[in-house]
Amino acid sequence: MSVSKILDGKLVEKNVELKGWLVTKRSSGGVQFLIIRDGTGTIQATVHKNEVKGRVFSDTERLTQESSIIVKGVVKEDKRAPGGYEVRIRDLQIVHLAEREYPLAKKSHGVDFLMNFRQLWIRSSRQTSILKIRAEIEKACRDFLDENGFVLTDSPILTPSSCEGVATLFEVPYFGDKAFLTQSGQLYVEATVAAFGKVYCFGPTFRAEKSKTPRHLTEFWMVEPEIAFCGFDDNLKLQEEMVTYIVRRVLEKRRRELETLKRDLEPLKKVEPPFDRVSYTETIEMLQSAGYQIEWGEDLGAPHERFISLKFEKPVFVHRYPAKAKAFYMQPDPENPEVVLCADLLAPEGYGEIIGGSERIHDLKILKQKIKEFNLPKEAYEWYLDLRRYGSVPHSGFGLGIERTVMWICKLKHVRETIPFPRTISRINP
Ligand code: 4AD
Ligand code: MG
Repeated sequence: MSVSKILDGKLVEKNVELKGWLVTKRSSGGVQFLIIRDGTGTIQATVHKNEVKGRVFSDTERLTQESSIIVKGVVKEDKRAPGGYEVRIRDLQIVHLAEREYPLAKKSHGVDFLMNFRQLWIRSSRQTSILKIRAEIEKACRDFLDENGFVLTDSPILTPSSCEGVATLFEVPYFGDKAFLTQSGQLYVEATVAAFGKVYCFGPTFRAEKSKTPRHLTEFWMVEPEIAFCGFDDNLKLQEEMVTYIVRRVLEKRRRELETLKRDLEPLKKVEPPFDRVSYTETIEMLQSAGYQIEWGEDLGAPHERFISLKFEKPVFVHRYPAKAKAFYMQPDPENPEVVLCADLLAPEGYGEIIGGSERIHDLKILKQKIKEFNLPKEAYEWYLDLRRYGSVPHSGFGLGIERTVMWICKLKHVRETIPFPRTISRINP
């Protein structure tokens, strides 16, 4: 039996067996109060001296925090118990008596200390809530795309060339040659999209991000849909539908976890299409008139995104960035080739970019020219140019960063809690 089923309230007066771990224990008179977690939730269980064998009571006395146990007992409704139910224990078996000094026993540890014990910290109710929401978001991404006719095509992790700029490449030795960890599966879904029409990849991506910020990881997960015969506007429509689908799914299935995190639900309930669209040029004007020192041509930084994002209640698209500030593969705007047909989706409440997307260059000549302008090694992109030689079509796509999305939906201050084992410039352990 699972804790979550007991908390649903349909097992009152029934006999249950629970397998789990001890969170805390206290005793009062002849009663011991245990808080037990089993991965689905936490529940109170009580051992009454006059109701159990002496062995059960003395075993309970020996229990240390995080010991693993199997208990049998009867479910009781009890308003005083957290969650409203408790298990009145009849029998208890110790599977493993944990060592006495649990490193995280004290409540007052800083995040850095907790991160050093991430292998244990992930057991806490706050961390399990975040990671359950993450899993729900990942499932929602897949469900949305699968239900809409997309084919999952996995992209390689070891790659011969860069997608998002050479500055953040991780190099790995490759049999006397070198390879790079993928920064994005995009170039490969641009190939599979010509085989299937609508595709996506979903996997880990890597960037040697040299700056230490609350929203940068060096290893993060991205879902990247790509659509053939799709222009800039249809790409944005797909993004607002997908983000709305994700938020609704979390509100529907992970309400208990959002409540554990004390997440204000009102801003999430407002998420629905359409999202506002502002151009990069308008954005620069808004920033300048608010006193920010930023010139047309510069990429937006976290404080700029935060400022814009706080101006809107829902996620907002910032579109048509200067070509020079963005990646080589983006389609120039036919009305102004200084800017490209791209958009970043900024999450509200100050969060900033969670999606980067664009229409891709489908013309061979323009793409060759761009590869040259960006000083990229031409040979490494020959295979990619073939996609413009045989059956080239206008196509678009985007990448949604899972951790940034979890960070926003859970309303966290730092991205490191959104992934089981975060990797940053200053952390590769545990
Ligand atoms: O904007 P980016 O760099 O876009 C791409 O990689 C495109 N090739 C995607 C595509 O069109 N298929 O990254 C996409 C998203 C960002 O919006 C952000 O959510 C996330 O990936 N991201 C990071 N998340 C955590 N740590 C980092 N260092 C990240 N860099 C990007
Ligand atoms: Mg981006």
